[in-house]
Order: sequence, then C-alpha cells, then structure tokens
Amino acid sequence: MAFTKNILCIGAGYVGGPTMAMIAHKCPEYKVTVVDINAGRIAAWNSDALPIFEPGLLEIVGHARNKNLFFSTEIASHIAEADIIFVSVNTPTKTFGEGSGKAADLQYWEKTAREIVKASQSDKIIVEKSTLPVRTAEALERILNANDKNIHFEVVSNPEFLAEGTAISDLRHPDRVLIGSHETKAGLAARTIICDIYAHWVPREKIITSNLWSAELSKLAANAFLAQKISSINSISALCEKTEANVSEVARAIGADSRIGGKFLKASVGFGGSCFKKDIMNLVYICESYGLHEVAKYWSSVIAINEYQEHRFVKAMLTAMFNTVATKRIAIFGFAFKADTGDTRESPAIYIAQRLLEERAVVVVSDPQALQNARVDLKNAPGALEFVDDPYRAAAGAHAIAVCTEWELYKTLDYKKIFASMEKPAFVFDGRNILDHAALFEIGFNVFPIGKGALKHF
Ligand code: UDX
Ligand code: UDX
Repeated sequence: MAFTKNILCIGAGYVGGPTMAMIAHKCPEYKVTVVDINAGRIAAWNSDALPIFEPGLLEIVGHARNKNLFFSTEIASHIAEADIIFVSVNTPTKTFGEGSGKAADLQYWEKTAREIVKASQSDKIIVEKSTLPVRTAEALERILNANDKNIHFEVVSNPEFLAEGTAISDLRHPDRVLIGSHETKAGLAARTIICDIYAHWVPREKIITSNLWSAELSKLAANAFLAQKISSINSISALCEKTEANVSEVARAIGADSRIGGKFLKASVGFGGSCFKKDIMNLVYICESYGLHEVAKYWSSVIAINEYQEHRFVKAMLTAMFNTVATKRIAIFGFAFKADTGDTRESPAIYIAQRLLEERAVVVVSDPQALQNARVDLKNAPGALEFVDDPYRAAAGAHAIAVCTEWELYKTLDYKKIFASMEKPAFVFDGRNILDHAALFEIGFNVFPIGKGALKHF
C-alpha cells in the first residue's frame, strides 16, 4: 500500500518510541519510522525485548511493526524521504560551562538539526517533541533555514505530556495535545497537518493550539506545577509528623477542593524521573537569564524541598535505628523512580542507597524491573551492596525495609513471613505510604510512614 505521509522520529527513547508506536497504530495510512544513533536500542525495538518497560507497549508495537512502523539506524536516508520529522532526542541538564547544572544541554538537538539540513532535499515540518527551553525554536529555525538548497523548514512545538508507566493510556486518552506554531500562513498550515495526525483518535476539543513560545513554555510550566504540588504536600508531611496530623487525611481534605484537585498530592520520599528536576532547573535558568531572580528562587525551592524530603527520610531511618546503621542489612524495596517502569533516572532511591552506604549499612536493592539500571546507578558506590530480585530473600536477615517505589507487589507480600526472617527489632520505613501500617505494627514491625505518626513498640 502507498502511504499518504512519511513521518520520521529521531530519538527512540521513552518519549519517541511509545509516541510513534501510537501514531502508527492509529494512522495505518502513514509510514512511521523511528531512528536512533544507538544501534542496540534499535535492535531491541525490533525484538520482543523492547528497550523500555511500559504496560501495553509491546502489543501496539507488535501490531504495527514492519507494517507501517519501522525502527532503523539509517538516519540520513530516512530524513530525505520524510515529510514530517519529530525530534525526540534527549536534552539533559548541562554538566559543563555556562549554566552547568541548570541549563538544558542542546548539543544533541543542534547536531540533529544540522543532520536534517544536510540530508534534506525537500521542505519539511520539524516537530519539537523534546522538552526545550522557551524560544529554542528561534535558534533552530536559524540553523535549519540557513541552507543554500532553497528548502523551507517549518518548526512546530508539540510537547509530550505522557508519564512513564502509563505512557500508553496517556497517549491513547490524553488530557490534551498541544500544538504550537508560528501564526503565519506556513505556520498555520503546518499546525493543521500535525493536528490531523492526532485527530485520528483524539477528540478535536482536546487538541489545543497556541503560538510556538506558549507551547514550549507550557511543557516546562506543567512539569514545574506538578512537581510543586508534590513538594507542597511533602513540606506539609514534615509538619504532620510533628503535630499528629496525618498527611493522607490532610491531602484528602484539601484535594477534595476542586480548585486544588486530588492528584499529585501523595506525600513521598521525593519525586524523581528524567523530567521534573531537569525542567525546573531549566526554568530557573531561563528566569535568571531574564533577570527574574525572585521567580527563579521560587521555583528553585520546589527542588530544595524535594532534596530535603530525601534527606529527611534517611535521617528518620538513622534516628529510629539508634543513630547507627553501620553493618546493618537494609532492604530497599523499589529502586525505580515510580511504579510500573524500570527507569531509575533521578530516582530518590539512588540518593537513599548512597547515603545508607556512606553510613556503612549493608544495602540490598530489590525491584521487579529496575535492577539492571540500579546496578549502573550504583556502580561507583562504595561499600556492601547486593541486588536481589526476590523481596523475601532481600529482606531475610535485614534490620529494616525501606519502601522507595510504590509497586503493587509490595502491598501483597506475606509480611508475617518477612518479619520472621528479619533481625529484631524490625523496622519498616514506608517512603510511599502504600503498606497497611496498622497490620505491620500488629505483626511486630516498628513502622515509620511519611507524614504520619510512627507506630513503635518501644
Ligand atoms: C528525552 C528527554 O529526556 C525529554 O526531556 C524530552 O522531552 C524527550 O526526550 P526520553 O525519550 O526519556 O526523553 O529520552 P531518552 O530515553 O534518553 O531517548 C533519547 C534518544 O535519543 C536516545 O535513544 C538516544 O540514543 C537518541 N539520540 C540522542 C539520537 O538518536 N541522536 C542524538 O544525537 C542524541
Ligand atoms: C512527568 C509528567 O507527569 C509528564 O506529564 C511529563 O511528560 C514527564 O514528567 P514522569 O516523570 O514519567 O512524568 O512521572 P510522574 O508520574 O509525573 O511522577 C514523577 C515523580 O513524582 C515520581 O517519582 C512519582 O513517584 C512522584 N510522585 C507523583 C509523588 O511523589 N507523589 C505524587 O502524588 C505523584
């Protein structure tokens, strides 16, 4: 069958892979190709052991792959044949030079833009999928359109709002799709073409259009607002622990106010993931560069509270366990930055494991999906470290369990059996408030939740 459009995505990561799989699945008349410089990743996309774990992903990839969805390392030839190019390469925080630790590192983006120019022979729409600083499109257009081939590139911003672990349902039923473009004739025409892709399955009223700069900034702002909600409730969790208020009750009561809303009010050991910290730092950097120092300070404090929360969790463990964890075996239940993903980028568990190792604890990391990443994250960590799949084996002989990821699995374990296998007094530090604290206390555990009173036998 002849395809009506050739869509290319550069970057086969957590964003590019699932998004293109959904477009291919919903738009059989389009040919969708995903390319990446990482040959191993492409090979994995072409196998049944996909490079990322995401519920429901394998099914939709399986349906479309080699029909209208292709994964390849041949970047130049696919650029040449594409009408629309989504760019979803990573934009990590800069680790060097000006803006180090805050600004986005745009080198991959710029390199990709130059590759696009080099390999193109016809006009194209370039879609920003990666999260980028506001006004990046301006620089990109200069690079793209400074070609002597008389080719026009129209840049559109279509930030992706999917969350890991729920990527497929987020893509299938998004709260909104945002498409920003220049409000010129060519910009509006490109906007319509991108809208038409999503209109295959997303109701028109959920497709929001805006100018380019609003779209770019909305992605940073949405992540900053979400992270701010978590930091807000986490700051209140500290106060709850001092006052016998219960953070879950407080969250329920305030979340019932529709102006506040009940989501993202789960107190935790802290937020992680590849986006929140990076995007807020980026926002802070942009504000600083415009001289908006108060605004920068305001958003920085969202990160400061997150670090405080991680720090507080370790401190609570130390205090409860008689101010020393040296030589004590501590089982970390969950290393992923959240449930239903193997991703550990910026996971609070990394900091917690490192701090416990510094305190000379014997750290046993357990996680149903993330052990491979955990090994890489902790490869330079000094001290006694084990990785154990089975949570029962991980907890055997331990003095404490620290729940860092809200995996369903941990709610359903036989804690009587676990208690029997542990050193006494046995501690549970529930960094996600997912366990039945009263039942654990009844079994004999000393239980330390987040933002509610501890249940202690002494
Ligand atoms: C990334 C960013 O983290 C996020 O901010 C942005 O919104 C989308 O891109 P993610 O998909 O999670 O999100 O990143 P990652 O899984 O690292 O995937 C990026 C892919 O791009 C990698 O597979 C990498 O090999 C590829 N890449 C990178 C290229 O193909 N070319 C490059 O020049 C650089
Ligand atoms: C986030 C945004 O939700 C998504 O829209 C954007 O595109 C990318 O960044 P993601 O990082 O995949 O997605 O995960 P998210 O579900 O937002 O969780 C981020 C972190 O916050 C996790 O560590 C999670 O455990 C934590 N969290 C979330 C809480 O601690 N409490 C909550 O109530 C919600």
